[in-house]
Amino acid sequence: MARGRLLGCADAPGKVILFGEHFVVEGVPAIATAVGLRARACAYEVEGLGGVFVYSSVFDESLRVFPSSNPKVMNFHEVVKYIHNMLGIDEHRDILVRIDSAIPPAAGLGSSAATAVAFAAAYALAYGVRLTPEEASRAAYEAEKIVHGRPSGIDNTIAAQGGTILYRRGAGFERIRPSLEGCRLVIADTGVKRSTRKAVELVLERKRRLRRLGDAIYETAALLVEEARRALEEGDAELLGILMDVNQGLLNAMGVSIPRIEELVYRARRAGAYGAKLTGAGLGGCVIALTSTRTADAVSKALEEAGARTYIAELDAPGLRVEPCRG
Ligand code: PMV
Repeated sequence: MARGRLLGCADAPGKVILFGEHFVVEGVPAIATAVGLRARACAYEVEGLGGVFVYSSVFDESLRVFPSSNPKVMNFHEVVKYIHNMLGIDEHRDILVRIDSAIPPAAGLGSSAATAVAFAAAYALAYGVRLTPEEASRAAYEAEKIVHGRPSGIDNTIAAQGGTILYRRGAGFERIRPSLEGCRLVIADTGVKRSTRKAVELVLERKRRLRRLGDAIYETAALLVEEARRALEEGDAELLGILMDVNQGLLNAMGVSIPRIEELVYRARRAGAYGAKLTGAGLGGCVIALTSTRTADAVSKALEEAGARTYIAELDAPGLRVEPCRG
């Protein structure tokens, strides 16, 4: 597809939930961190294109997103609508947005939100506007509603803001400043596809059936997140590892671990990780292990030997970066 004139680029990070997934749905805070895997979007003006198109290098496909009623691109369609509303601009120019992403899709690493944040910021540059992280996050939330139904908002928030955040549903986020320079996250994809919606329903149903015991597990999760925040700020990697193991136990109790997750969690711990757990919805998706920079390779190797695709990532990565084109 013809590229046209470059108007600007933007990129945004993927994320992992370090603590508190699922419990966050019922008001417990969760801690998420941006990881060093990013989605990048570049906007081009292409004469005679006939609308707004998105080209994804991952799928090697180019689709019209505006005007369009194609369900495959409704997320981008909603972002375009939102930005035009926000800027008060009716006119639509012929824009192609190219997306390149290093974040594995559908694995709970926030790839759809990072893509939507980068897309929103690159698209706004086509109209000479540099979105703030808050604006890009709000635009991306429109896309997340299409992809996830009733998203908690963690993914678009962290993709736009970066860093590490404590997130409470309905109350926004608070920044955490971890001191974990000597640490890495090893992310391992179980390769098992899962549905976030199904996992959320399963956990809520189990909580209901457990009654007071369910409430006690959620209270424990809230306490765990509090301790984890302190350990992050104090840079106590060993304690964080133990807390990750405890969090994994609670998620297992709520029914979202599976044998493949447990296998990878135990392998990571045996290979020297401080701790390991599933991240995100569970029932598949990814496992994360906290390691020192020294042991990251050994942990990654042990997980690759078990057949998992792995990524060694830095925590606390920067959020949205915008590069307008000069001239
Ligand atoms: O796997 P993900 O990134 O879709 O994680 C979902 C996290 C949940 O807490 C289970 C749901 C939510 O909306 O926060």
